[in-house]
Amino acid sequence: MHIILQAKGLKKYYGSGEALVRALDGVDLEIEKDGFTAVIGTSGSGKSTLLNMLGGLDVPDEGSVTIDGTELSGLGDEAATVFRRRHIGFIFQNYNLIPVLNVWENIVFPITLDNHRPNEDFIMRLVSLLGLEGKLDRLPGSLSGGQQQRVAIARALSTKPSIILADEPTGNLDSRTSQAVIALLKKTSREFRQTIVMITHDPEIAAIADRVVRIEDGRIAGDTLTHSYEQHNIRNNSQRRIQP
Ligand SMILES: Nc1ncnc2c1ncn2[C@@H]1O[C@H](COP(=O)(O)OP(=O)(O)O)[C@@H](O)[C@H]1O
Ligand SMILES: [Mg+2]
Repeated sequence: MHIILQAKGLKKYYGSGEALVRALDGVDLEIEKDGFTAVIGTSGSGKSTLLNMLGGLDVPDEGSVTIDGTELSGLGDEAATVFRRRHIGFIFQNYNLIPVLNVWENIVFPITLDNHRPNEDFIMRLVSLLGLEGKLDRLPGSLSGGQQQRVAIARALSTKPSIILADEPTGNLDSRTSQAVIALLKKTSREFRQTIVMITHDPEIAAIADRVVRIEDGRIAGDTLTHSYEQHNIRNNSQRRIQP
C-alpha cells in the first residue's frame, strides 16, 4: 500500500474566548495512492478547512501535511505555489475557469504557466474521455455547468498531478448531471491511476467513492471502505496476477 498523502495532528482554530471555533481539532489522515476518498459532514464541520490544509492553500496552526514525500510547511511561498501546480489538481464548486480563455486554453493553462508544452495526445485523450471534443474553441460562459465542470476536471488532470482535491465539485449541478460528472471523474482518474479526495454533501455521490471519511466538529468521526473499494482492489490484484 502506497500512502501518497499523510496529514498528522492538523489543528486550525479561529477567533478566541467565547467565539473560539475549532475548525480542525486534531486530524490524522492517510490517503492511499489511486484511491477515491469522499469527505462528508454537515455544513461547518471543517471539510473545506481540511481540504485547504491538505492542498497547502491554507496553513494549519499545528500539524503537518506530506504529499509524495514533501512536507508542505517546509516550502516557502513560491516553492509551495509551484509544488501545488505540479502535484495537486484542484476542482472547486464554481469551476474557477478563466472566462476569456477557451476550453483548450483553460485545460492546458497550468502546463503553460510552467512554460511546458502540453502533451497533445494525452490532453486529447482526456478531452475525449470527458466528452469535450466539440467544445475546444468555446468560451466557458457559453457552456452548461456540467460542461464547465468537465473542463475543470480536464484542467485538474492535465498536469498528471499526484492527487486531485475537490471541494463540492457538484454543488452547482443537478443530481443527474452530478452523477454523470462524477462517474466521468472516476473513470478518468482510474484510467490515469489518479488519487482523489472529494468533499460532498450528497450521499449518492459519496457512494461512488472507495472510502468515506466523515468529519464532525473538526474531527474524524467515521472512516469506512465501500463496496467499490473491494471491487477496485480485486481488479488490481487480478491485474497483478496477469502482469507480475
Ligand atoms: N476564515 C475563517 N474565519 C473564521 N472562521 C472560519 C474561517 N473559515 C472557516 N471558519 C469556521 O470554521 C468552521 C469550519 O468551516 P468549513 O471548513 O468551511 O466547514 P465546511 O466546509 O464543512 O462547511 C466553521 O464554523 C466556519 O465558520
Ligand atoms: Mg465547505
